[in-house]
Amino acid sequence: MEHQIALELVRITEKAALEAARWTGRGDKNSADEAATTAIRSHLNSVAIDGTVVIGEGEMDEAPMLYIGENVGNRKGPKIDIAVDPIEGTETVANGLNDAISVLAAAPEGNLLHAPDIYMEKLAVGPLLAGHLSLDDPIETTLAKASGILNKSMSEMTVSILDRERHRGLIAALRKAGVRIKLLNHGDVMGAIEAATDSDVDMYIGSGGAPEGVLAAAALKSLGGEMQGRLLPDGPEETARVIKMGLPDPGQLLYMDDLVGTGNVIFVATGITGGDFLNGVRYMQNQKAETHSVIMHSESQMVSFLRTIHKLPLTREVLTHAAM
Ligand code: FBP
Repeated sequence: MEHQIALELVRITEKAALEAARWTGRGDKNSADEAATTAIRSHLNSVAIDGTVVIGEGEMDEAPMLYIGENVGNRKGPKIDIAVDPIEGTETVANGLNDAISVLAAAPEGNLLHAPDIYMEKLAVGPLLAGHLSLDDPIETTLAKASGILNKSMSEMTVSILDRERHRGLIAALRKAGVRIKLLNHGDVMGAIEAATDSDVDMYIGSGGAPEGVLAAAALKSLGGEMQGRLLPDGPEETARVIKMGLPDPGQLLYMDDLVGTGNVIFVATGITGGDFLNGVRYMQNQKAETHSVIMHSESQMVSFLRTIHKLPLTREVLTHAAM
């Protein structure tokens, strides 16, 4: 049944990617996001689950669709937590850059952390480093431990991090240690995934969105990697939100079980714009388009790639032209 659900969910990220990719490079991240969100929302209710959105487009009063707490699915299946980001990398799509994805994770009710939309400090690694490092350590210690375990010199290691002003100190420390750095413009779900695949990235560090932290942890669980996180509430209002969400100590170190629980997690993603891990949408002749997706199951650690050719409905312009 879980395979069936995963296949239905990936059909939904495919549809979102097909809609979002039409906005590639058009400088309008809001329209891209709306197109992808509408596609996901309109198809999610046909899936045989009794789902609740725990990570979505925002709180009920700020998001018309896929808001936190929204019930989704046809209610005829198991109780499932849904974490969804119709476009991970809205700026990326708007600017026509690499590595934007449409992404969705699902787990038995109560497993996914209800992460508020605040920043989270993160450390993501692949199977070789999983269980050996700590977000509590200074970065110099973490790099030294990783270098020993991987049997690589500092200059042979690559660390990825979002290129942000807030990371200036961290980037300086990485440069001082002599590691290679991959500076990301946007999209730290893919940044974390890269650290656990056979890319040349050994580790993803730095702060990014907390919801993206949960989504990335969902993927890392299937990849045998590890994500550690610490929420970074900014001020009393965000601190209160974290406590209300069920974490009495807002600064506690969050491990995989805290982020994505102990049950089976399904992770699906479809490329919108191309990248090393997933190709983007490719529109073809004869009203067809190709998508590339990944489907992961944490229990079996099965990771499957799916290439789909879609027959598209005729666009309005083509219909108008045909009628003339
Ligand atoms: P959006 O798709 O919501 O724009 O998020 C993109 C992203 O780069 C995330 O991957 C990342 O976690 C977060 O934004 C980082 O936020 P900021 O741009 O504020 O550093």
